[in-house]
Amino acid sequence: MKEKLEALRSEAMNDIAAVQDEQTLDAWRVKYLGKKGALTEILRGMGALPAEERPKMGQLVNEVRAAFEQAFAEKSDNMKNAAKNARLAAETVDVTMPGKTNKGGSLHPLNQTLADMIDIFQSMGFDVVDGPEIETDHYNFEALNVPADHPARDMQDTFYLADNLLLRTQTSAAQIRTMETRKPPIRIICPGRVYRADEVDATHSPVFHQVEGLVVDKGITMCDLKGVLEQFAHEIYGKDTKVRFRPSFFPFTEPSVEVDVSCPECGGKGCRVCKGEGWIEILGAGMVHPRVLSGCGIDPEEYSGFAFGIGLDRLTTTRYKISDIRLLFENDLRFLQQFEGGNVK
Ligand code: PHE
Repeated sequence: MKEKLEALRSEAMNDIAAVQDEQTLDAWRVKYLGKKGALTEILRGMGALPAEERPKMGQLVNEVRAAFEQAFAEKSDNMKNAAKNARLAAETVDVTMPGKTNKGGSLHPLNQTLADMIDIFQSMGFDVVDGPEIETDHYNFEALNVPADHPARDMQDTFYLADNLLLRTQTSAAQIRTMETRKPPIRIICPGRVYRADEVDATHSPVFHQVEGLVVDKGITMCDLKGVLEQFAHEIYGKDTKVRFRPSFFPFTEPSVEVDVSCPECGGKGCRVCKGEGWIEILGAGMVHPRVLSGCGIDPEEYSGFAFGIGLDRLTTTRYKISDIRLLFENDLRFLQQFEGGNVK
């Protein structure tokens, strides 16, 4: 019986060493420790032993049972630990790994400049209005004192869509639409795309942007125009910027001016950006022509006004020292990402 027990012990220990999962471990327990298990079986044979051997054998059986129970407990613990360790290893986070950042988007430099312009003009009491990009001949030319045979039409090469429909060549069309629907006092700006049949090069694009301005009220003079535009130039380019008004011609303003600012790159000394001039032209302006006012039902004897049209693209390229207008339209991310955070890095 002793040999049987020893044989059983080594068989059980061999078996348990090979156990890999809980199911087999439980089968092992049933086989060796269960009510109908191998140990119980041996115990049953005790009755056949001589009485004096029974206590010794009983002790041996108990020893074997204790060894089995211990082996079972250890194996069970080991397996639980191994499972836990495997789970922890799988869940490990390497806190020293570099983080993944999601880059925020940013405003396009044109939109950034426009947002700043809108801020400046709103703080001076201007409303922002919108106008259609497809215009009629009436709004884009006729009502702006440019009749069909007027030579000024040659100044702007127009994309015609149909007989009477065109892509607006200037945001000035918004002056008429505004004066037809609002009564003075009027103070608006109208930003938007304009179109001209120009060849693409470093300073020209068939699509570009203007910001139109219009003020109509009693007693408005050229001084008001100068004051507003000087204030605007100082806010956009800085207090030291000089502003120059040159006589010019537009059919819908009289008198008309073109406005230059001292070159933001060289401060006026002359450089590559201003082509040695020291000045950069940023807008056209003037006092609203009496014929334009009366055409919109506003009495030029009672009211006067000024208008201006700012080139947004030129303003943006000079402000951010961008050498080529095409960069604004190509949407190269390497270019655009330099404007993250609203300012050039
Ligand atoms: N519309 C003119 C242009 O495109 C600019 C301008 C606007 C001039 C308003 C005077 C008044 O050149």
